[in-house]
This record gives sequence, structure tokens and C-alpha cells, in this order.
Amino acid sequence: MPSSTEKKTAMVTGAAGTLGLVVTKALLAQGMRVVMADVNQERLDELSASLPGETFPFAFNLGDPVQVKTAWEKIQKAVGTVDVLVNNAGILTNNKLETTSAEEWQRVIDVNVNGVFYLSQLVVPGMKSKKWGRIINTSSLAAKTGGITAGTAYSTSKGAVISFTFSLAAELACHGITVNGIAPAYVRTPMVTEQLSEAQRAEVMAKIPVGRFCEPEEFAHVVLFLVDDKAGFITGEIIDQNGGLHFD
Ligand SMILES: NC(=O)c1ccc[n+]([C@@H]2O[C@H](COP(=O)([O-])OP(=O)(O)OC[C@H]3O[C@@H](n4cnc5c(N)ncnc54)[C@H](O)[C@@H]3O)[C@@H](O)[C@H]2O)c1
Repeated sequence: MPSSTEKKTAMVTGAAGTLGLVVTKALLAQGMRVVMADVNQERLDELSASLPGETFPFAFNLGDPVQVKTAWEKIQKAVGTVDVLVNNAGILTNNKLETTSAEEWQRVIDVNVNGVFYLSQLVVPGMKSKKWGRIINTSSLAAKTGGITAGTAYSTSKGAVISFTFSLAAELACHGITVNGIAPAYVRTPMVTEQLSEAQRAEVMAKIPVGRFCEPEEFAHVVLFLVDDKAGFITGEIIDQNGGLHFD
């Protein structure tokens, strides 16, 4: 376990996106160092320079195992091991079965599933060496409902993220590493405000019992909860954050 005086290091993927950035800010506010991973170096550098605290921006394509490995070697040189991994990067497509191309399917699985696997595999040995770690995977309500508006590839990819979470949780619990997931729905981000039509948004809003979209800061709050030392007995859990759209 990192000593109480040692700063913890977190890594957030999709850190240049809406939720990734809010999570990065929340972790920085806890005094952690944050490796910000995303695809666009320029955007990452800009964001990193604008944030208070210690950030380490690294651009690479999570869907490419070679790029992930090369980036990880550089990250290790810069920060050493990572204590908290927030697998947050993801791409949304809304095509259902018959309109999903093989290319789209592959692209979504590469980023949303394979990237989570590539990175977790590289980060876990460092967590094991410290006998402490937190992995938080971003699934989606779509994994459980089949996708109200989300497409087939996306819903499938987020289902795989849940199974991956269970598998790692079982394997890593004895090493002091917890692995949990969050299944949000309709967070007020461009995925909702831009990728859905006005009619779709109105239809969805009418179905959400809480009567509003989720705020990005509410998502970051769940991440902080799972990162906390006192959440150490929670592993293999998928926390629903869907405003009452679905219970299980
Ligand atoms: N917004 C929602 O309502 C919602 C609901 C459920 C789940 N989610 C999930 O939350 C996560 C974050 O969503 P968001 O709304 O912040 O989306 P976003 O599009 O704002 O951010 C996603 C980030 O991932 C990055 N990314 C995409 N492909 C990448 C790749 N190949 N390599 C590295 N980085 C890559 C993007 O550049 C982007 O910055 C996603 O996994 C998404 O599926 C979001």
C-alpha cells in the first residue's frame, strides 16, 4: 500500500473528454498526480497546462496494443507505478444490428474493450507490487438494457467491460486491488447533447424518473467513492447511475 505521505498516482483514459476531465480534476483535488491519457497530444497539453496540480499528458490510441505498450514505457519512466486506473475512454455509436458495419464494430470493440484490457494488463503488476490498487471501468446502462438509444456494438462493448470487471475483481482481490465499474446513463455531455437528436433527448428525458440528465461531477463523485481507502471491501461491483431508468 502506498504510504500515507506518498502521493498516489492515478491514470485517467479519455482525459480530454468531458467525464475524463472532470474525473481528472476531482482526483487532482484529492492531491493525486494524474496521468492524462487520450488521443490528441495538443489538446492534452493545453488541458494539462490549465490544471492545478501534477498532471502528465500522454497521447496514444488505446485500440492499438503497440502504441499502448510504447506509451506505458514512457509513463512508467515519468511517474513509476500507477495506483488508480480509471478506464474511461470510450466511443459511442448508435447503429443497431443491420446498419453496423464490420469496421464500426471493430473500432468500438478496439477502444471500449481491447484498450481496457491492454492498459489494465500493463498497470496491474505495479499495483500488485504495492499490494494496493483501484481499477474503475466505465460501462454503461446500455450493457444492461441493450441500449435505449445506443447501438449494438456499443452495448456489446459495455457488456464486455462488466464481465472484464468481474473477472479482474476475482483475480486481483487477494492482491489488495479492487476492480469496479460504473454504469452511467445520459450524462450531460456531447454524447447526449450532440450525438442524440432533440427528439431522442426529449423522449429519453420523459423516461428518466429523476427528471434530468446526470451531471459529469456526479460521475466523478462515484469514482472518488470507489478510490477511497474505505471502499476497499467493495470489488466486482457495477454501480448504476441512471436516475432510476433501470433497477437490478
Ligand atoms: N456521456 C454519457 O452519457 C455516458 C453514458 C454512459 C457511459 N459513458 C461512457 O463514459 C465514458 C466517457 O464518456 P464522455 O461522455 O466523457 O465521452 P467523450 O467523448 O467526451 O470522451 C471520451 C474520450 O475518449 C477519447 N478516446 C476515444 N477514442 C480513443 C482512443 N482510441 N484512444 C484514447 N482515447 C480515446 C476521446 O478522445 C475522448 O476525449 C465513455 O466510456 C462512455 O462510453 C458515457
